[in-house]
Amino acid sequence: MAEVRPYYSEKGLTATFYDLTTAMDPSLAGDIDIYRSLVPPEGSVLELGVGTGRVAFALAESGLSVTGIDLAPTMLVQARAKLAAADPRVAARLTFLQGDMAALNVAGIYDAVICPYFGLAHLPAGTAWRNVFAGVAKRLKLGGLWAFHLPSAERMAQAPATPPDRPVFQAPLDASGRQLSIFIHARSAKPGVGRFDQIVDHVVMGPKGQVERRARERISYYAADPAPYALAAGLVLDRPAIDLGGVGAIHVFRRD
Ligand SMILES: C[S@@+](CC[C@H](N)C(=O)[O-])C[C@H]1O[C@@H](n2cnc3c(N)ncnc32)[C@H](O)[C@@H]1O
Repeated sequence: MAEVRPYYSEKGLTATFYDLTTAMDPSLAGDIDIYRSLVPPEGSVLELGVGTGRVAFALAESGLSVTGIDLAPTMLVQARAKLAAADPRVAARLTFLQGDMAALNVAGIYDAVICPYFGLAHLPAGTAWRNVFAGVAKRLKLGGLWAFHLPSAERMAQAPATPPDRPVFQAPLDASGRQLSIFIHARSAKPGVGRFDQIVDHVVMGPKGQVERRARERISYYAADPAPYALAAGLVLDRPAIDLGGVGAIHVFRRD
């Protein structure tokens, strides 16, 4: 039986193919423009769960300074490889640090703190979210914005079961015919406590359909109403949540 590893783990494939899969994910369309619109020109951003820098590089290319923190070394390795190859003017505006968003240990005060693509949903609501919001409030300028993308609990609870042998994603990896397929091996929902679990298989197939690599990883998402956490951290609602692809929304709070 295939070993089940945590998402983003060293021997998994989620991190390896993260940029490929997110580039083709319609539920993220337009998210970077939304984060960019929340920050003044040449402003400063702290990104929690920065991953491979999908958002951070785009913001830095627009002239913003971005400090990104992430827990997963596999994701930071990719961010730092891209940093080494980036235009030096863009690279100078980017800092990547390893750290836990629930125990924020970064310096500086920022125009915005962002947590794109379900980063916050990787942590259980409750103490961890309280710690994230309290840490964020300390790092925001007066008037600064805290924007985070959460999945819709309703949509996750209603997600149709996908047969484990039908890929939910397929893409060519090179011109020789190698391809990546992703399957949902198992999915379960505990909507009462806002928890959703998935076991995901990444399979790399060679030109003749032979399996070259396979990795099985598990991920849990947590969903909850963020308003009480914001209130406890002294943050106020800045605007109604911004729907993204019907499967989630970007929530925006402000430090007054
Ligand atoms: C879905 S990725 C989002 C990456 C990037 N922000 C983007 O939008 O493409 C979520 C990231 O959150 C990171 N993460 C999960 N828990 C974390 C924690 N407690 N502290 C910091 N980062 C965390 C993961 O390692 C992963 O890189």
